[in-house]
Amino acid sequence: TNTTNTSMFHYWRFFAKGIGYTLLITAISVLIGVVLGVFLALMRLGKVKVLHALAVAYIEFVRGTPLMIQVMFVYFGIGIFIDIPALIAGIIAVSLNSGAYVAEIIRGGIESIPVGQTEAARSLGLSQRLTMQTVVLPQALRNIWPALGNEFISLIKESSIVSIIGVTDLIYQLKVVQTATYKGVQPIIVAMVIYFVLTFGLSKLLGHYERKMKHDEGT
Ligand code: ARG
Repeated sequence: TNTTNTSMFHYWRFFAKGIGYTLLITAISVLIGVVLGVFLALMRLGKVKVLHALAVAYIEFVRGTPLMIQVMFVYFGIGIFIDIPALIAGIIAVSLNSGAYVAEIIRGGIESIPVGQTEAARSLGLSQRLTMQTVVLPQALRNIWPALGNEFISLIKESSIVSIIGVTDLIYQLKVVQTATYKGVQPIIVAMVIYFVLTFGLSKLLGHYERKMKHDEGT
């Protein structure tokens, strides 16, 4: 006989695959996002007006439009010229989005260091570059690290939007399991719990390293 197995445990491979894709997209996007974010932050903080304006425009536009539409734009926009896999389009879109958020994290971290610090270092004869490297950045990084951790956690959840272009992430898999089992709620609960375990676990882990970092600095 042909009975449908409706136990969620039976479908663990689907959820596992979904977790894999979700974490893959998140990890790659946050890495590219950080690189992009550093450049955007430097452009925005720098003195070159054109670069400053470009960075501001990019950051404001990306933060002012839904990630959902950016994902669709990248996938179908690039699709006009070349066929790209949904996964690649998803990673590109989430990375471009994250870059804007990371840029503001970095700018915020740098601007949170009082100007007095820079003035003091400069009046002691340190060059602009050395002041940045030895006085401002080390202090700014203390604010930036935890915020980047939060960005990673946000992206675990926000990346779920790539399921609309067919990337087989956790949300996509939950729909597959719904269809296979005729169960509406159970797959949702499983995916929900998985998301929570991922974000909560990561947040605990990051908190641990944050405390360790503070401890090692002796503050
Ligand atoms: N869900 C919001 C949006 O669609 C926030 C995206 C958050 N992105 C990020 N990199 N933290 O715009």
